[in-house]
Amino acid sequence: MSYELSEILISEEEIKKRVMELGRQISKDYAGKELIIVGVLKGAVIFLSDLVRNIDSSVKVKIDFLAVSSYGASTKTSGIVRIIKDIDTDIKGCEVLIVEDIMDTGLTLSYLSRIMMEREPRGLKICVLLDKPERHQSEVNIDYCGFTIPDEFVVGYGLDYAGLWRNLPSIYVVRPSI
Ligand code: XMP
Ligand code: MG
Repeated sequence: MSYELSEILISEEEIKKRVMELGRQISKDYAGKELIIVGVLKGAVIFLSDLVRNIDSSVKVKIDFLAVSSYGASTKTSGIVRIIKDIDTDIKGCEVLIVEDIMDTGLTLSYLSRIMMEREPRGLKICVLLDKPERHQSEVNIDYCGFTIPDEFVVGYGLDYAGLWRNLPSIYVVRPSI
């Protein structure tokens, strides 16, 4: 089955405004503190790079990345999660914020927060650009959420289908082409 771009779900302007708000909120919440921001490759890269530029100098920001396994070109999560690239930073005793593109079933984030908690950070919060509540299977507390979206497969602004469309500045719905 092949997929094609359908309508814009969230425009570039809406994203920009919301990312600015999230950055302000994070700046307030972590003012005077050091914060290690952990981006989940590759989907969160575009969001993270805009988000950190909206966090002001009252926060001492460090950035690291990890990657989790994804299984081929599919619009469904396999349910099996594995770290294939870990962070280089020792997070023990530190404030950590995981930045992810989307919470779908929640399996990835529940796995990641469990792994990160084992490393004894002082605090761990989660920031997602998108949340699909209809698809949740796992209870994960999201501290910062950009947008709640319906159960549609979306691409753009870092999100991909089979590696494609991450570069689009807006978020689009993709549908099977007929
Ligand atoms: P779970 O189910 O673990 O899934 O919360 C998280 C991962 O699944 C991918 N995902 C998507 N990727 N458009 C995408 O480009 C989507 O609509 C979508 N839904 C889930 C994504 O990689 C996320 O990290
Ligand atoms: Mg992802």
